[in-house]
Amino acid sequence: MTSKIVKLLEIQTIYILFRIFEQNYIQIKIQIMFKKITILSLMFIVLINSYLRADEGMWIPLLLQKYNIEDMQKKGFKLTAEDIYSINQASMKDAVMIFDGGCTAELISDKGLIITNHHCGFSQIQDHSSLENDYLTDGFWAASHDEELPNKGLTVTFLVRMEDVTAQVLAGVADDGEESVRQAAIDKNIEKIKEEAVKGTHYQAKVKAFFYGNQYFLFVQEEFLDVRFVGAPPSAIGKFGGDTDNWMWPRHTGDFSLFRIYADKDNKPAEYSENNVPFTPKKHFTISMKGTQPGDFTMVFGYPGNTEEYLTSYAVDMIQTKINPYRIEIRQTSIDLMLADMEKSPAVRIQYADKHASVSNAWKKWIGENNGLKRLDAVNVKKQREATLTQWINQDETRKQKYAYILPEFEKIYADYAQYSFAEEYFYEAIWRMESVKMATRMRYLVEKGSEFKPEDVEKIRTSAKNFFKDYNLETDKKIFKALLSLYVTNVDKRFQPEFSTFVKSKYLDLSDPKKLDAYVDFYFEKTFFLHEDQLMKFFDTYAKADYKKLENAPAYQFYTNFMNMYVAQIMPVVKSYDQKIANLNRFYMRALMEADSAKIFYPDANFTLRVTYGKVADYEPKDGIKYKHYTTVDGIIEKDNPDIYDYRVPQRLKDLYAAKDYGDYAENGELHTCFIATNHTTGGNSGSPVLNANGELIGVNFDRCWEGTMSDIMYDPAQCRNISLDIRYALFLIDKFAGASYLLDEMIIVK
Ligand code: ARG
Ligand code: GLU
Repeated sequence: MTSKIVKLLEIQTIYILFRIFEQNYIQIKIQIMFKKITILSLMFIVLINSYLRADEGMWIPLLLQKYNIEDMQKKGFKLTAEDIYSINQASMKDAVMIFDGGCTAELISDKGLIITNHHCGFSQIQDHSSLENDYLTDGFWAASHDEELPNKGLTVTFLVRMEDVTAQVLAGVADDGEESVRQAAIDKNIEKIKEEAVKGTHYQAKVKAFFYGNQYFLFVQEEFLDVRFVGAPPSAIGKFGGDTDNWMWPRHTGDFSLFRIYADKDNKPAEYSENNVPFTPKKHFTISMKGTQPGDFTMVFGYPGNTEEYLTSYAVDMIQTKINPYRIEIRQTSIDLMLADMEKSPAVRIQYADKHASVSNAWKKWIGENNGLKRLDAVNVKKQREATLTQWINQDETRKQKYAYILPEFEKIYADYAQYSFAEEYFYEAIWRMESVKMATRMRYLVEKGSEFKPEDVEKIRTSAKNFFKDYNLETDKKIFKALLSLYVTNVDKRFQPEFSTFVKSKYLDLSDPKKLDAYVDFYFEKTFFLHEDQLMKFFDTYAKADYKKLENAPAYQFYTNFMNMYVAQIMPVVKSYDQKIANLNRFYMRALMEADSAKIFYPDANFTLRVTYGKVADYEPKDGIKYKHYTTVDGIIEKDNPDIYDYRVPQRLKDLYAAKDYGDYAENGELHTCFIATNHTTGGNSGSPVLNANGELIGVNFDRCWEGTMSDIMYDPAQCRNISLDIRYALFLIDKFAGASYLLDEMIIVK
């Protein structure tokens, strides 16, 4: 293996050097004479990267024929680009959709049945749950269409077609100049394109920028509005491992839920109606029971949300040293306090379960990301790439004129931008996310209505407040508030703190003094009547003209508005202006990167548009001496079983099936596989994406990434980056054997 890589590297080195020789014979020759060693070592690093990054990339479906299909087929894929994306025939893209605006789902029957993750359908499952019908705890399986539950506001969105509209978007737009002026011209063009694209149809159009605005694509979409809940396993299976196992391998989560799309009698999208019928799709996936072997081709087809693969070393350094460590610290602080209270009280446990899950999800990812960036020495790798690029730029006068300013300008900007970005992130994480502040933002609605309010306005806020209090524990919030405010006052420059003397009484004023901080926090929570449900409801009962002033005068409201004003005055405008400068630089930087490496096929950063990523089933070695297998089995669930650990309570029924080895046809060599890993380059938004084999059959549902590889949003490492998928056979087993809902399997096409 190693010698093969070296061989390949040698061949590639010769090839690339040859290419450069051809282009710039004399300059390079002289440089090589003087800098032979440096260049070769730089080349070597670049080459190691491009060789190893084989499975990196989130590819555009429309361009597969041009760029990827040959490579995909070489790696085992047996179908064509038209089978994945076509506007002339039914293709895979007709079976993949955005689920609820943030996840992916796919069709698995000709009656509109779709599968996504349990964590993607979680809020719908929770919505339908009550003490009598606790679907979160017990799971849910509709026995017939009549039992399928409607979900207000839930939509799924298909891609009808996409088109490169770069020329139209940039028509009459200057390449350079004031970024906001430029953007306004672009937006105007986009509006026109969108309007034309959907004229006379029920479709929607979106235009999105790629490669930092060097390319634009139009997406015509069809949105379905009646999507009903069909089934989900109990949380003890669908969320098995919870936050303990989140982002980690080995994993045993049965992370799936089933929904069904309904349409009107013409098979068109319609608002919920009893008369709607199950949607008949153009295409749905066949399910394969064959399972996975290391090296097998895998393709993930879904909606990755956001990646930043082309950041400069300055940006990566900022994220790694100035942003992530503080985000992590702030969240760690609130997680610890939350958990302490959750452990003490079952009521708080329920109230804060979801908050805890969402706070800890990104927290854990950032820790993994920073570990990964450090291990890859990402900043220096980027620096080396920048050095190579600079050499390329300096080889030619025109290039120098076009591009030489970019990297020095980045360096200058980030040197100053970092402090504002830090303050913004701190404000967002430590202040804006506080529960009492969120409550104050609700009150703002009434304050702004002032004495002109209508009774409906009060009722609206009352309802929203009731929702808030259902999951609110003042004592927990108070502890978190105190800790985060103290962090803010200590770690954030005075310029980015509000003028406390305007709203904090002088006796509490020095908030860096723990005693005064304590006293202020006591005062804040005691005197903010809108943080006390009984007081607020009474207040609303008799709400009158001038009462908005009482809201306005409450300490939490004062706190919120003063922080907000500081943010709007001191942080936001600077960040915005830098962001525009950076956007402009990025556009030219990206262009330079692509021009300098014209033989390389670049993939655009994720931007929540439909993408193909392909790779293979593969194990990995997270640390010296440890090797992880590529799959897990139900045996691991039983190993983890522990009634004392909330995340590891295994339902009795699963234990019984395990004891009887009653796995039906779903086992492989006597083992029931639960999850598997592969090298597909995925990110948030890919949750619920279909994982397909070489024949385009469904073998899994993507739901997470391995911790050691979470830096792949910034830098992909083929040795460590693995996406985690639910083995589709475990889902089938759960539906059939565990839930006794085998009638759902009847509408699927399952092949051995
Ligand atoms: N890490 C996965 C994702 O980013 C799963 C998150 C849901 N699970 C959880 N335990 N919080 O969305
Ligand atoms: N769980 C993530 C999601 O909801 C996917 C994991 C990732 O970031 O790759 O999209």
